[in-house]
Amino acid sequence: MLEIRRISTGDHLDDLARLLIDAAESGASIGFLPPLSHEVAVDFWRGREILGAFLDGRLVGSVQLELAWKPNAPHRAEVQKLLVLRSARGQGIGRALMNAVEDWALELGRTLLVLDTKRGDLAESMYRRLGWTEAGVIPRFCRSAAGEFEDTVVFYKELARA
Ligand SMILES: CC(C)(COP(=O)(O)OP(=O)(O)OC[C@H]1O[C@@H](n2cnc3c(N)ncnc32)[C@H](O)[C@@H]1OP(=O)(O)O)[C@@H](O)C(=O)NCCC(=O)NCCS
Repeated sequence: MLEIRRISTGDHLDDLARLLIDAAESGASIGFLPPLSHEVAVDFWRGREILGAFLDGRLVGSVQLELAWKPNAPHRAEVQKLLVLRSARGQGIGRALMNAVEDWALELGRTLLVLDTKRGDLAESMYRRLGWTEAGVIPRFCRSAAGEFEDTVVFYKELARA
C-alpha cells in the first residue's frame, strides 16, 4: 500500500540519506555526485518538511517544496528532490508524489511552480505528461560524475490563475 504524507525530515534522516545516496548512484541530477557519504546526505536533509512516500510502511520516495521568500513572489515555489528508490520505481510513485506536491502547494497558496531537470532523463518526459511547460534549456548547467557537462530543462506549471 502506498501512502504519501508530510513528514519532518528529522524523523527519517537515515532513510532519507539512503534515498539521496541511491539517487546519486543512479546518475540522477540531484545536486550531489557519487560517492556521497551518509553524513553529508544526513546533513542535507536536516530541518525540512517534505512529502514522503511510504510503500508498505517503508520510506521509498520524497519531494520537497522550496517556497519563494521574495515579497514579490508569494505565489511561487520550486519543486525539488523528487526521488524514488531504484527498487521502487516504475510503480506510479513519482507521479503520485508530483500530484501530492501540487495539492500541498495549493494549500499554501502557491500557484506557480517551477523545477528543472537534466535533459534526456526519464523525469523530463514525465513532467511533460503531467502538464508542465518547458520554459527553456540551459546548456552545460551541471556536471555528471564522469565530468561531462549536461543540459538542464526548466519547467513551470500554473496551478490556478490569481
Ligand atoms: C523520476 C522518478 C522520480 C520517477 O519515479 P517513478 O516512481 O519511477 O515514476 P512513475 O512510476 O510514476 O513513472 C513516471 C512515468 O515514467 C514512466 N516510467 C517509469 N519507469 C520507466 C522506465 N524504466 N522506462 C520508461 N518509462 C518509465 C512511467 O510509465 C510513467 O509514465 P506515465 O507518466 O505516462 O504514467 C525516478 O525515476 C527517480 O527517482 N529518478 C532519479 C531522481 C530524479 O531524476 N528526479 C527528478 C529530478 S528533478
